[in-house]
Amino acid sequence: MPDDVSIARALHVLGVVLWIGGVAFVTMVLLPAVRRMKTPEERVAFFEDIEGRFAAVARWATVLVGLSGLYIIYVWDMWYRFLVPSNFWMHLMVLVWAVFTVMLFIAEPLFLHRWFQERAKTHPEQTFRIIQRMHWVLLSISLITVAAATAGSHGGFSF
Ligand code: HEM
Repeated sequence: MPDDVSIARALHVLGVVLWIGGVAFVTMVLLPAVRRMKTPEERVAFFEDIEGRFAAVARWATVLVGLSGLYIIYVWDMWYRFLVPSNFWMHLMVLVWAVFTVMLFIAEPLFLHRWFQERAKTHPEQTFRIIQRMHWVLLSISLITVAAATAGSHGGFSF
């Protein structure tokens, strides 16, 4: 029977797979497809509708990843790690989590959604480009974090 920290770690990674996998799909598959299929005016509305559904999954996954990660830190008393430079990947994880949490729980529902829709009416092409660029930036830091955390949590960095 796996112990509680192993279960928390499994849930942590499951959450990461659902969440970052979804971001990768949206960035690398959905956005390029929408760009080719729809007129500029339709793109943002169509994309926002589809991504709105993924946002619900991403919100739950963010909560799961944050809680399971905190649980592991608490039970194994890992707080000191934040003071050790070779554990920079711990800071990266918290940073990525914080950026997405602000986007998904604060910026998007409060103003980002409305801002994109308003802007898309006057500058559809430019707005779609901003959305694409934002996704590539978020996906890149997320993938770097996944790679660094996997290597780091198995003793990959020692400086
Ligand atoms: C508040 C946010 C987070 C906290 C507190 C947290 C905490 C942790 C902890 C304590 C571990 C185990 C480290 C070890 O065993 O040495 C871990 C592993 C890991 N985390 Fe996070 N994490 C957070 C967010 C994230 C995010 C956003 C990602 C992905 C972008 C991520 C990806 C991973 C990966 C890939 C592992 C390695 C799993 C393994 O190979 O065993 N974490 N995290």
